[in-house]
Amino acid sequence: MDAPSEPSDTRQADRPLLAVLRGERRDPTPVWLMRQAGRYLPEYRALRAEKGGFLDLVHDSEAAADVTLQPIRRFGFDGAILFSDILVIPHALGQDLRFMAGEGPRLSPPLVDYALDGLEAAPERLDPVYETVRLVARDLPPETTFLGFAGSPWTVATYMVAGQGSRDQAETRRMAYRDPKAFGAIIDAIAASTVDYLGKQIEAGVDAVQLFDSWSGSLSPAQFEHWVIAPNAKIVAELRDRYPDTPIIGFPKGAGEKLPAYARETMVDALGIDETIDPEWAADALPEALPVQGNLDPLALIAGGERLDHATDRIKRAFAGRPHVFNLGHGILPDTPIAHVEHLLACVRQG
Ligand code: CP3
Repeated sequence: MDAPSEPSDTRQADRPLLAVLRGERRDPTPVWLMRQAGRYLPEYRALRAEKGGFLDLVHDSEAAADVTLQPIRRFGFDGAILFSDILVIPHALGQDLRFMAGEGPRLSPPLVDYALDGLEAAPERLDPVYETVRLVARDLPPETTFLGFAGSPWTVATYMVAGQGSRDQAETRRMAYRDPKAFGAIIDAIAASTVDYLGKQIEAGVDAVQLFDSWSGSLSPAQFEHWVIAPNAKIVAELRDRYPDTPIIGFPKGAGEKLPAYARETMVDALGIDETIDPEWAADALPEALPVQGNLDPLALIAGGERLDHATDRIKRAFAGRPHVFNLGHGILPDTPIAHVEHLLACVRQG
């Protein structure tokens, strides 16, 4: 028998968030916040102004590593999330990507009227992200879990097809009905590069990964099976086969009553739930051993005061009997007061 080999990283300390993602219960529950590296932090805004565009910041590995670490230095969250974006995958598949001030992302050409195989893939565009992972893994406190991420194929496809964000993803939903073959090829291409991308993040040093499916709530149940559950199940199976020790968090925002099927069929290790889900319903409806992440309303965090305390307490109580990661139900908003984040952390951590 082989002697147990030394893990290649030097980060050996207990990491409570990683333990929970692997199915342990911890008290206090570990906490991090989606979009915790970003515009609500003055130190982020300063670096962003110095570096120019958002994408320039993502491609500057030293700066991106610094942004990843900013919320850890300030708040000591249990998890650090890699600073990048879900739209780097369309960029690597050959679309042009720009972030327009005040208008959000633009991808061209939009695939609603341009064939996928006309694009020239540029996977080297992801190389700076792997370098960011290596730099963060080197500098992160040993007790902090390092999270990589990617968008899920459906959500990424909504941007690739429309060329930008949209209120109801109608163009993409139409294409999925009108031409399921062409649309399926887009989903498959995203899924394949996502497996490769997340695999390389894992090899560069992340401890766990999250799949963001921000727009999964716009699909009918049958379309949800087809375009959300099936590709995510495939991504999970392929990653687990290669990296059995790396937990995968699925976050199908807006999935509502479809959450139990999503958890069962994708076989994610942990499930992120948004703020529209009643924590007590989730505690009942989801398998007892499944780690759940969430689900404070980002607006309650902005409001602060008694309502914040009440909502925080309700989530803590509902999930006290299972592995739970405290988080928001969606990303932290730019106008969130820093003092409210500090207060939330104190509440979550006071046993
Ligand atoms: O702190 C973190 O969570 C790490 C980094 C991260 C970003 N985007 C940085 C970012 C993560 C995990 C994301 C995910 C992401 N990006 C999603 C899924 C989660 C969600 O919030 O729904 C989506 C849909 C995107 C696409 C995207 N990126 C949009 C629509 C926009 C513009 C609107 C906005 O939120 O600002 C971005 C830009 C973006 N991504 C910023 C940041 C910090 C703001 C860029 C800036 O500095 O101006």
